[in-house]
Parts: sequence; structure tokens; C-alpha cells
Amino acid sequence: MLNETTVKALVSAATEARNKSYSPYSGFSVGAALLTNDGKIFTGANIESASFSPTVCAERVAFFTAVHNGERNFSAIAVVGGKSNEEISSYCAPCGVCRQVMCEFCSPDFQVILYDGKEPRIFTLSQLLPESFVKANME
Ligand code: THU
Repeated sequence: MLNETTVKALVSAATEARNKSYSPYSGFSVGAALLTNDGKIFTGANIESASFSPTVCAERVAFFTAVHNGERNFSAIAVVGGKSNEEISSYCAPCGVCRQVMCEFCSPDFQVILYDGKEPRIFTLSQLLPESFVKANME
């Protein structure tokens, strides 16, 4: 389980990362901070495109950056999102595609921390994506 200090550090890193969002089309900025099992933090922010579909969510930027740096074992991610240039005031849950990417690299007890500017809410990956399709389904 995550302790309070770790949750705060991840929320703070995600909030800082959110400042790097490139989201001129939605006006919605998201930040994510991903924790490896050995305590490293990798961050991401959403990056949009004029043709829309190439847009990548903050969570996937964090995951792909970490995986590209050789990381494969993750314990938690914090996600914060809201209207650009406004403080966080509601929870931003990961989209379905990001949940699937989490399933690729994480166990069902991976922790997903959401934050509304007041109270963190913590879910397991299996709560957010039950009955997921993974590599084992093809073996
Ligand atoms: N977005 C994320 O980065 N993560 C989420 O969890 C939800 C949505 C981004 C994608 C797009 O740039 C903007 O938020 C609006 O959908």
C-alpha cells in the first residue's frame, strides 16, 4: 500500500507535469506521475495534434517515457486534469486506452491516484478495468 507521503509526492509531480501540457484544442491540461517499484518517478502531460487522433494522453506519455528508459515494474500513477489555466477542481479518470496500456505493464493491484484539489481517491487497476484482455489471454 502507498503511504501518505508517497501519494502527496506523486500528486505534486503530476500537478507540476501538467504545466507542460500542449492542449490548444481541448483547453484541458492533464499531468501524470508514474512510480516505479524502486522509487523512481516518470512524468507526462497530454500532447495534442491539429488532426486530433494523434493526441496522446498524459498517462501514456509517462508510461512510454519510463518503458523507453528501461523500466518495466510500476506500482502507482497519479493523474490530475482540468481546464487549462485553472486549478484542479475535479477528478480526471484515465481513458480506456490508457487503462489498457496500464494493463500491459502493471499487475491488477497497481494503484491509480486521482485528485480533485482536495482529497486523493485511490483505485486499483482491476477496479478500473475488470476482465481485461492481456498477453496471457493469447497463450
Ligand atoms: N486526457 C489525458 O491526457 N488523460 C486522461 O486521463 C483523459 C484525457 C487528455 C486527452 C486530450 O488531450 C484532453 O485530455 C481532452 O480529452
